[in-house]
Amino acid sequence: MELKNARMIFWGGTLVSAAIFGWMTYDFHQQGETLAHNSKIDDRVIAGKKVWHKYNCNNCHTILGFGGYYAPDMTKAYYRLGANNIIAIVMNPQEVYRNSFRKMPQLGVTKIEAQNLVAFLHWTANIENRQWPPQDEKYVKAARLRESHPEKLQKTDLVLGACGGCHSFANQGRDIAGDFGEIAKRITYDHDTLIRYMQNPKSVKPDSDMPPQNVSPETAGLIADFILSLR
Ligand code: HEC
Ligand code: HEC
Repeated sequence: MELKNARMIFWGGTLVSAAIFGWMTYDFHQQGETLAHNSKIDDRVIAGKKVWHKYNCNNCHTILGFGGYYAPDMTKAYYRLGANNIIAIVMNPQEVYRNSFRKMPQLGVTKIEAQNLVAFLHWTANIENRQWPPQDEKYVKAARLRESHPEKLQKTDLVLGACGGCHSFANQGRDIAGDFGEIAKRITYDHDTLIRYMQNPKSVKPDSDMPPQNVSPETAGLIADFILSLR
């Protein structure tokens, strides 16, 4: 290749790439504000982000693709698990994950820090990032419809949207606390006791390590119907 051609390729390539990069940077600053809902970043969200860094959660977890690939992505964890479950997991992973082959260490996160983390994860979950990660989109949809229009959800989506962060059914969800097919055959609770168990597990089984689930009595009733139908 002649020196002249090589120069043209070098300068052409560099200028085109620089122009694309410049345009993308500009576009990002134009859209970032609305897509990330910057106006919702309050003191608790900021405090939660500091907790995230203080304990190096991203050594093991990713958010928006950044971090370690050892543990689940946290971008939409708020919808996959809800506030109660996140607090219980972060404060007592050794109990919630007692039966899991993977282990999250007990980091000594305080209650206030865990609540701030929830505020931070609630904010990240609402960043409009073209539905990424895709595997969590069904949890987002289920969480948004669960209390307002549970009838619009398929039964399994309703149940797995609410409980699939820890339980599985028909090879969906995460089995760290048992598969509903097996649980249904094992438990002897009637309909109302099962609803009570969901809302306050310790009131039914004092040594239960399941955190209280934030489901309305109606939704809990539909979930109980489903689980008991598997017997
Ligand atoms: C040493 C690695 C490690 C660190 C550090 C760590 N985690 Fe985890 N975390 C895990 C593993 C592994 C799991 C999954 C456990 C399982 O499936 O048994 C997990 C699970 C979770 C879950 C539940 C995810 C889901 O989808 O079920 C949440 C929420 C969570 N971690 C939050 C945090 C937060 C917040 C921090 C920082 C305060 C943190 N983790 C620090 C390893 C870690
Ligand atoms: C954050 C994780 C988590 C979530 C989310 C979760 N569970 Fe659990 N679940 C557990 C753990 C841990 C156990 C084992 C409890 C024990 O006996 O210590 C359990 C056990 C159970 C049992 C068996 C109880 C028994 O007596 O053996 C039922 C039934 C159950 N869960 C129903 C549900 C339902 C319904 C939902 C959704 C509304 C749900 N769980 C959501 C963690 C979870």
